[in-house]
Amino acid sequence: MEQFRINGGAKLTGEYELTGAKNAVLPILAATIITGNECKITSCPDLSDVHTMFTILRELGCKITKEADGEVVVDTRPVNSYTIPEHLMREMRSSVFLMGPMIARCGKVTLSYPGGCEIGLRPIDIHLSALRKLGVTIKEAHGFLECTADRLVGDRIVLDFPSVGATENVMLAATAAEGETRIINPAKEPEIIDLQNFLNACGAKVRGAGTGEIVISGKNSYHQVEHRVIPDRIEGGTILAAVAITGGNVILRNAIPEHMSMILSKLKEAGCRIREGRNTVELSAPARLQAVETVKTLPYPGFPTDMQSQFLTLMTVAQGTSVITETIFESRFKYVEELRKMGAKVKVDGRTAVVTGVKQLTGAKVVAKDLRGGASLVIAGLGARGETIVENICHIDRGYDKFEMALRRIGADIRRESSEDRQQES
Ligand code: UD1
Repeated sequence: MEQFRINGGAKLTGEYELTGAKNAVLPILAATIITGNECKITSCPDLSDVHTMFTILRELGCKITKEADGEVVVDTRPVNSYTIPEHLMREMRSSVFLMGPMIARCGKVTLSYPGGCEIGLRPIDIHLSALRKLGVTIKEAHGFLECTADRLVGDRIVLDFPSVGATENVMLAATAAEGETRIINPAKEPEIIDLQNFLNACGAKVRGAGTGEIVISGKNSYHQVEHRVIPDRIEGGTILAAVAITGGNVILRNAIPEHMSMILSKLKEAGCRIREGRNTVELSAPARLQAVETVKTLPYPGFPTDMQSQFLTLMTVAQGTSVITETIFESRFKYVEELRKMGAKVKVDGRTAVVTGVKQLTGAKVVAKDLRGGASLVIAGLGARGETIVENICHIDRGYDKFEMALRRIGADIRRESSEDRQQES
């Protein structure tokens, strides 16, 4: 088990280059299956979730070649298996994205339920009912889902909630349906637009991503493609929060400021100076942050749930009281009890947290319980007085590419330790 040891207090400054977005690359890697061809993906981040997706794709028969740093070629011609093993489904919820592409390409797939996780129950009912509407037969037994489709027929699919994963799954399955599929009330996240761009670059016909209706024309022929993944807006927001808590300044490069509008607007409210360039975001933090009266997570373009914990962490040291409401996932405040060990004053009642800012947090031993909550403990440690140890950092590795090295490049005093390192020291 690895941990981060952080010496708080160093002002973070410098330039930071964003990597490709985790939430864009995972569905795109799954989507390569529909092409039955070779796909080159560039700006592919080196994350443990991405490695898990590679393992699943290999299990299905794909060949994966790493050509250079951030460049990977997925050859999906040899797909010859239709079952995703249970242990891989459990490792990563995003494995559910393989339903749509496998049905589109092979007409069948068997997988287990992705299961709940630390931030909420995360059912997949919206995925299943939408796929059924396209003609997929789904048999559920003993925790397994056996999906088959002899023929997919396009339809008008109204999503009860703009679920990101369900929108992507339907877009992918619909590429093989006869006629047109219309998704009403789809998710509008930038990652959905990136998936549309990838699909169209391979030969699919998809339009409307980012709006209230996505239209997919099925039955296409596909060709080889090279696609560059969009930058990670959540990694960007996390770095800005880390810099802000230390009173530092940073220039994010390879950023798309428009994707970060809501995050930037809340950082401005907290007293940060923000300058947006064409592909850059510059942040300069005040000596003390100001509390932001209300923050409410919402589907894009609202404030992202994936930035809720990082922003709440900033508010723990801001002047005044902030109220943060989580509307997307029902149990996304678990990291708060760890922040309390560092002196944070936060009251949680259901989906709302009331944060009363203190002058400074103090270092402590804390445990990461999920990806973004874990990153927030690192942010807290960077701003705290003294030493912080963040345990269980495998959660953080799921979504940040060598987080400690990236932070060290802008001045953080943080290092990764394995249990062997600790044994040697003692
Ligand atoms: C994606 C992101 C995740 C982000 C989330 C919301 C990826 C790999 N992950 O997750 O980082 O936090 O969007 O922006 O892109 N729901 C149902 N039934 C369903 C599907 C979803 O009730 O069939 C509920 C979920 O439990 C949750 C809400 O809808 O409460 C949003 O989930 P969804 O948008 O589907 O998130 P994911 O695609 O899982």
